[in-house]
Amino acid sequence: MMKTLHVELGDNRYPIVVGTGLLNSVGELLTPVMKSNKVLIVSDTYVKTCYLPVVLKSLENAGFDVRTIEVPGGEESKSLTQFSRIQDSLVEHQLDRGSLIIALGGGVIGDVAGFAAAVYMRGIPYVQIPTTLQAQVDASVGGKTAINHPKGKNLIGAFHQPKLVVIDVDTLKTLPQRDIRAGLIEVIKMGVIRDEPLFERVEKNLEAILNLDDTILIEVISQACVNKAEIVAKDEKESRLRMVLNYGHTFGHALEALTHYNRYRHGEAVSIGLNCAAQLAVNLGMFAETDFQRQRTLLKRARLPITFPNDLIPEALCDAMYLDKKTLGGKLRLILPTRIGDVVIRDDIDDRHVLQAIAQCF
Ligand code: NAD
Ligand code: GLY
Repeated sequence: MMKTLHVELGDNRYPIVVGTGLLNSVGELLTPVMKSNKVLIVSDTYVKTCYLPVVLKSLENAGFDVRTIEVPGGEESKSLTQFSRIQDSLVEHQLDRGSLIIALGGGVIGDVAGFAAAVYMRGIPYVQIPTTLQAQVDASVGGKTAINHPKGKNLIGAFHQPKLVVIDVDTLKTLPQRDIRAGLIEVIKMGVIRDEPLFERVEKNLEAILNLDDTILIEVISQACVNKAEIVAKDEKESRLRMVLNYGHTFGHALEALTHYNRYRHGEAVSIGLNCAAQLAVNLGMFAETDFQRQRTLLKRARLPITFPNDLIPEALCDAMYLDKKTLGGKLRLILPTRIGDVVIRDDIDDRHVLQAIAQCF
C-alpha cells in the first residue's frame, strides 16, 4: 500500500511517499534521487535499534556505501555539539556534494540532520524518513531545518528542502500512544486552518487512527501532507501564507518555554494553544460557539489537554508569547479561526483580549 504526492517547488520539486513496509524499499526509492553512492544516516539511540538495520540492509542491497551516526534522543540533540559531530562525520567519511544525508527519526533528527545537510559544502542533498507522527505530518515536509540556541528554540537554521520524504506508517507501531495523540494535533490543526473534510475524517475515524489502522493512517497522513505541500509550494520561505501553520503555536510555544520544554509534548502544548486561540476568536465575535465546541470536543476525545496548568499565571504566558520568534516589529501575530476550515492572520489584537482568552483557558 503506497501513495505518492509532490511538493511542487519547480526545480526543487520532490515526492512524499506514504505507505506500509517502505523501510524495506528505501534503497529502490532512493536510486532515482542519488548522484553518487555515498550516504550518511543520522538517527537517534532508540530509532537506531529499531529501524536502522532494515534501512541499512535495503541501502546496501541497492549498492550504496553507507555510514551511520547516532545522536542521543530528545530535544537536546538540536545543539551545536551534535551538529558539529555530524559535520565531523561528513568530513571523516569524505562525503561530497553528490552524497546524501538520511534523517531517520523524529522531528529532532530531521531538523539537526537537515541543517547539517543545508550547510555542509554549502548544501548537500538529504532525505527525510520520519518515524514519529509529528514528523510525518509536519516536520519532515517543507524544508525548515534548525538547531536551538540556549536562549531560544530553532534560532539557528536554514530553509533546505529534502529530495524525498519516505513515510512508513509501520514505524508508528512502536511509538507511545501519548506521542500518537500529540502528533495528531497537527492533523487536527490542518483541518481547522484549511480542510474541513480532513477535520471531519478525524472526527469520524478517531478510534481507528489511535488504533493505528493502516488504511486510515495512510489517508489522513497523506491528506495532511497534501495540505502542507500546497502551502509550502505557495510560500516556501514563510512570507505570509505559511504562517497559518502556526495556529495555536504562539500560545503553545509560550507554555513550552515556561515549563522548560519538559512537561508537555509539543503537540500537547499546541492543543492548549488551539483551544485558547479559538476562545479568543469567539470573544472577538469571529468564530461561532458551535465551531469552538466542535474543536474542543475533538481535542478532548483525543485526550489532548485544553487548559493551562494552574501553577502558571496569564500575565506570564502573555509575556512569554512576545519572546516567540513569530512576533514581528514587537507585535503579536496570531492565527485565528473564522470557521472549521479557515483562519485569518491578525497582528492587531489588543493584549487585553489575549489575556482574557488565556484566563478563560485555566
Ligand atoms: P523527537 O524527534 O524528539 O522524537 C520523540 C522521541 O520519540 C525520541 O525520543 C525518539 O527517540 C522517539 N522515537 C522516534 N521514532 C520512534 C518510533 N517510531 N517509535 C518509538 N519511539 C520513537 O520528537 P518529534 O515530536 O518527532 O519532533 C519534535 C521536533 O520537531 C521539535 O524539535 C520541533 O521543533 C521539530 N519540528 C520541526 C518542524 C519543521 O518544520 N522543521 C515542524 C514541527 C516540529
Ligand atoms: N511547522 C511549521 C512550518 O513548517 O512552517
